[in-house]
Amino acid sequence: MGNKSILVTGGAGYIGSHTVRQLGEAGEQIVTLDNLSTGNRKAVLSGDFVQGDTGDGNLVGKILTDYDVDTVIHFAAHTVVPESVTNPLKYYWNNTCSTRNLLEQCQKHGVKNFIFSSTAAVYGFPESGYASEDTPTAPINPYGTSKLMTEWMLRDLSQASDLNYVALRYFNVAGCDPQCRIGQSTPNATLLIKVAAEAAVGKREKLFVFGTDYDTEDGTGVRDYIHVEDLADAHLKALDYLRDGGKSTILNVGYGHGYSVREVIDAVNRVNGKPLTVEEQPRRAGDPPMLISIADAIRNKLNWSPKHDDLDFIVKTALDWEHKLLQQK
Ligand code: UD1
Repeated sequence: MGNKSILVTGGAGYIGSHTVRQLGEAGEQIVTLDNLSTGNRKAVLSGDFVQGDTGDGNLVGKILTDYDVDTVIHFAAHTVVPESVTNPLKYYWNNTCSTRNLLEQCQKHGVKNFIFSSTAAVYGFPESGYASEDTPTAPINPYGTSKLMTEWMLRDLSQASDLNYVALRYFNVAGCDPQCRIGQSTPNATLLIKVAAEAAVGKREKLFVFGTDYDTEDGTGVRDYIHVEDLADAHLKALDYLRDGGKSTILNVGYGHGYSVREVIDAVNRVNGKPLTVEEQPRRAGDPPMLISIADAIRNKLNWSPKHDDLDFIVKTALDWEHKLLQQK
C-alpha cells in the first residue's frame, strides 16, 4: 500500500513552501492549508491548496477525512518576535490555541505522524552560547513560549494516544531555493541575511549592525545560519523516521557552528562584489551574544546531512531571490 496524504499547514510560507516543493519532488500526496495572512499562494508548487485557518476544527476535520491524511507537518504560525512582545495574545491564539484545535482533529481522525516547526527561541539565553536538546528551555519572549507550549501539548498527547511527533527546533534559517523558484518574501523583514540582501540590491539604504561590544571574537552577535533547503530536508527525514516507527523526539536543526554579523556582511560583500553601507548601532533588546546549536542528534537519529553548509552559498541564494523580486516589480 502506498503512503497516505500529508497535510502541510502554512505551506505557502517561507519554510513551508520549500518543504512542500521537496515533498512534491519526492512524489508525496500533499494538501496545503494556509490562511495567506503572510503566505503566498504562488509559492505552493505541489499538491492541492485550501485557504483557511488551522484553528478551524470543521475545516481541518474535513481535510483530514477527504484526503485520507495520516501525517501533518505544522508550520502555520506567527513568527515576528518583537510583535509577540507587544501583542502576546495574538501569538498565544494562533500559535497555541489554533494548534490545540488542530491536534484535537488529529486525535479524532487518527493522524499518526506530526512534524512541528519549533524554534531555538525556546532556549532563551543559554549561558555558554551553545544549546543541545537537553539545555533547559527558558524562552524570553511570547513567540518562544507559544512554541514551547505546543511542544508540551505534543508530549502529553503522544503519551495519551497513538500520535508520534518530531519537533524540530530551528536555528537561524536563511537563503532560498537555489533555482530561485521560491524564496523569502516577508514584508518588513528583520532577519539579518534577508535584510542584508535587501540592502545589497538597493531596497534599503543601509544595514544596521546591532551591537559591536559583545563578548565575541569581533564584538558582534554570532548565530548558527542554516540554509532553508537543508531545513526543509530535515522535515522529509523526520517523515521517514516516523513512518519507520521512530519514537517521538525533539531535535535541533542547525549546522553546529556560527558566524558573526561582520562575517555575514563580509560574505554579502564578497558575493555581491560591492560593499554594503553599514551603520553601527547599540545592541538590540533581547539579543543574546551567541546562539549555536549542538546538533549531533538529528544527524544520528534522522540520518540528516546538510548539503549547503556554506555561508557564501546561503548569501548567494538570498541575493538571487532579492534580484528576482526586484525584476518582478
Ligand atoms: C530571531 C529571533 C529568534 C527566532 C529567529 C528565527 C529575536 C530576538 N530572535 O533570531 O527567536 O527563532 O529569529 O525566526 O528576534 N542583526 C543586525 N542587523 C539587522 C538584523 C540583525 O545586526 O538588521 C543581528 C542581530 O543583532 C543578531 C543577528 O544579526 O546578532 C541575527 O539576528 P536575526 O537575523 O534578527 O535573528 P535572531 O535575532 O538571532
